[in-house]
Amino acid sequence: MKKYFGIILTAMMVITLTACGSGEKKTASSESAKTETNQLEAIKKAGVLKVGTSADFAPFEFHKMVDGKDEIVGADVDMVNKIAEELGVKVEFMDMEFSAVLTALQQGKVDVAISGISATEERQQTFDFSMNYYNPPQKVMINKKNADLYTSIDSLKQKKVGAQKGSIQENVVKEQLGDAQIVSVAKVPNLVIELNQGSIDALVVEETIGAAYIAQNEDLMFADIDLVSNEDEAYAIALPKGSTELKTEIDKILEGLTKDGTIEEYVQKNIKLANESTDQ
Ligand code: ARG
Repeated sequence: MKKYFGIILTAMMVITLTACGSGEKKTASSESAKTETNQLEAIKKAGVLKVGTSADFAPFEFHKMVDGKDEIVGADVDMVNKIAEELGVKVEFMDMEFSAVLTALQQGKVDVAISGISATEERQQTFDFSMNYYNPPQKVMINKKNADLYTSIDSLKQKKVGAQKGSIQENVVKEQLGDAQIVSVAKVPNLVIELNQGSIDALVVEETIGAAYIAQNEDLMFADIDLVSNEDEAYAIALPKGSTELKTEIDKILEGLTKDGTIEEYVQKNIKLANESTDQ
């Protein structure tokens, strides 16, 4: 009798345990479904906005020693700090190569990606984007000593033209400088060094970025070569697909910052900051 009682008791315990287990599962999955559809709530609840960036892109995001400490600064940084302030959360940066930034967003390792990202039609298939906040044209950068050599698209035939790995500049080289030899490099400052040393002949960058590096390298200049800049190359903040509430909130803040000239102020301030710096 005792033996049977024991078996029944064990059976009952197993049933109770299973019931508990499945009950727990239910709440857990319905909660994660909720956070998936409302990133804004999740970020506010966490109190932190995790930002993926590639801090090699003065004046938008770059490293600088501030009071003996290495910090990520730039116009994008000022912009996201302002957004976070409005949302009432802190900012946490994850610095990585540009070619990894959108993957990190897709994998949910960061909440948003802010890195001078062009909201191209192709990227819009995978991500949501905020409204555009900046739109610099595409430029060819060369060494001053080659000013007379590289004066047209044709003159770059067979020449080595650099572009950042994973950036739209790779497409610009392939599509508009088709006869050139593309050299993809992970970090923009390394491309600038290569151009300086002559291991590449030219480099495609957006104007504001090129200007910031030219200001620090008196041997470099923009070539007098016209590239076509497409409409969908303007910078926007990348968000996970379906971030409706988050996008609405960010757009509201960005609308104000672009309209009253704050973004332009951030850019000008950080061009100065980049030129003061020797630590990039
Ligand atoms: N606007 C270009 C793109 O989206 C280049 C961006 C590179 N950004 C950076 N932080 N390195 O492809």
